[in-house]
Amino acid sequence: MDIVFATKNAHKISEVQSILAKGYTVVCPEQLGFNGEIPEEEVTLEGNALQKARFIYKMFNLPCFSDDTGLEVESLNGAPGVYSARYAGEGKSSEDNIVKLLREMSDKGNRNARFRCVIAYIDSSGAEHLFEGIVNGRILFEKQGDEGFGYDPVFSPEGFNISFAQMSPIEKNLISHRGRAVNKFADYLTEVIKGRGI
Ligand code: IMP
Repeated sequence: MDIVFATKNAHKISEVQSILAKGYTVVCPEQLGFNGEIPEEEVTLEGNALQKARFIYKMFNLPCFSDDTGLEVESLNGAPGVYSARYAGEGKSSEDNIVKLLREMSDKGNRNARFRCVIAYIDSSGAEHLFEGIVNGRILFEKQGDEGFGYDPVFSPEGFNISFAQMSPIEKNLISHRGRAVNKFADYLTEVIKGRGI
């Protein structure tokens, strides 16, 4: 069964395809002829994930899912949260976001933070489902490592003395917010397939 991933990120598509049950083929909006922007204007991760999935579902009437992720820092009341990608401003780089984060946290003793990923899935009947993945950790005082992307160099997951940027992709996926959310989603789809006797 084809299932549309409402994203433009080719890396995410192949990552999810490798985890999902065999009965599902992940396709992206571009493969179906849509190259435009997918709206992302809500103020929560759940709202954004649903908005993106609904937009593509309405366009193609096919089962569709989308994800949205944010870094939530305790001493910043959950910021940057849903605004993680543009924390330092529209069009700014990950490096700019990290500089701003470390500046905002320069006087903070509480370094607790978490990445939270929400996947919204709309099935063939139009029913909506949400899956959440969380990894707790702390914000480092300076960057460490050069793997990964985004805030990886300044995020150290609970139980580790290294940052996400010092882990291999395989190591990170095993414990990451996105890995956890995708695994929950994949388990759900596997159950659906079993229920249909496929
Ligand atoms: P998205 O919803 O997956 O596009 O993520 C939004 C923003 O959160 C990204 O632009 C990154 O700044 C940040 N982010 C998401 N996932 C990660 C991660 O695994 N490591 C570091 N930063 C991330």
